[in-house]
Amino acid sequence: MEFRVILVSILLAIASPFGLGSQFGENYVRPQPRETLSWPWRPKHSSEPQQVHISLAGEKHMMISWVTDDDSSPSLVEYGTAPGEYIFSSQGESTSYSYLMYSSGNIHHVVIGPLDGNTVYFYRCGGQGQEFHMKTPPSQFPVSFSVAGDLGQTGWTASTLEHIGRCEYDLHLLPGDLSYADYQQHLWDSFGALVQPLASSRPWMVTEGNHEKEGILFIKSPFQSYNARWKMPYEESGSTSNLYYSFEVAGVHFIMLGSYTDYDENSDQYAWLKEDLAKVDRERTPWLLVLLHAPWYNSNWAHQGEGNSMRASMEPLLYAAGVDILIAGHVHAYERSERVNNGGLDRCGAVHITIGDGGNREGLAQRFRNPKPKWSVFREASFGHGELKIVNTTHAFWSWHRNDDDEPVKSDQVWINSLISTGCISDKRHELRKILMTP
Ligand SMILES: [Fe+2]
Repeated sequence: MEFRVILVSILLAIASPFGLGSQFGENYVRPQPRETLSWPWRPKHSSEPQQVHISLAGEKHMMISWVTDDDSSPSLVEYGTAPGEYIFSSQGESTSYSYLMYSSGNIHHVVIGPLDGNTVYFYRCGGQGQEFHMKTPPSQFPVSFSVAGDLGQTGWTASTLEHIGRCEYDLHLLPGDLSYADYQQHLWDSFGALVQPLASSRPWMVTEGNHEKEGILFIKSPFQSYNARWKMPYEESGSTSNLYYSFEVAGVHFIMLGSYTDYDENSDQYAWLKEDLAKVDRERTPWLLVLLHAPWYNSNWAHQGEGNSMRASMEPLLYAAGVDILIAGHVHAYERSERVNNGGLDRCGAVHITIGDGGNREGLAQRFRNPKPKWSVFREASFGHGELKIVNTTHAFWSWHRNDDDEPVKSDQVWINSLISTGCISDKRHELRKILMTP
């Protein structure tokens, strides 16, 4: 144990010049973070499925992911719409990875479907053990999302997850920074166990943050653990990287962007984004939402300006495409903007929401820049979560719920009109076509 702590300290020291160090040493003072929860190492019998989570995998399909210590356990999911009656089954594949002295369990990924919308399914992993159940999202409005970034696994995280568990939602959105394992690989396992009750029952759609990198110069390429464990439907959306992809649910097209891979106009991600936007049909999916980690509109001193270069590359394209809402994390506070573009107010721009306040061990980012910019509507350094209900083609209701002494208190709320309902999309068609046609 001693050796492991020393080794991790050395690795963190090596890593700090390559990205992680920028999170520390800022001038702001954060309140006391809560302790990381303590979890028994590999708490269950080795052949039992562990860390079960689900994610959308193309139209009418769901990916079931879990970990076993037993190499011979099959990548098999049996499922049906009644408890214990598994009239369907699917096989998938498994992978594993090693990271210095750590060896992961067998990580299974199995796609099941076609599934009906808004339906409860009961399922079992690996042909044995506990039965899980999940509800598929609806195929049309209304549809509801819970949102929290920068989760970690502290007492505050447990509080946030408990609040999310109390609300009615169809899918969880996580704009980066999941486990805060930060090179200590067993913390990916404990994070998987912590989120299993929620993540096994509703799809979790995530994108990567800086804490997922875990690269070591000349030794380890970044995102190895994240990509092995949190496989998202990138192939289904024409992407070649798990770090950016898209998916659709009810009448919403989601684009999950990567803040920590190339994003300039000559990058693979930018080329994929253009292709993906060209496929968006606003008749079928009137709402267009984006998630990424490092915010583009941020009036907190924490991580100030870190999203600027990505914004410079991609905002003109996303503006022309008519993005309704952009959700980010990274800054450990909450902030909501007016509709903005190019640094200022714009009625046809996106509403930007920063919600990196899930509860991680680093605590809150308390210092905001003053005076408050005109575009910033509401900002507060508290842990919490968001809820987004898209009611129909034209209206959505957003609310943010602060963790107030472990009780969720609705502290910000707003009705958002879709850009399609305000005439902005038809105004932009020519502009978008011009950008998409540019080689
Ligand atoms: Fe972050």
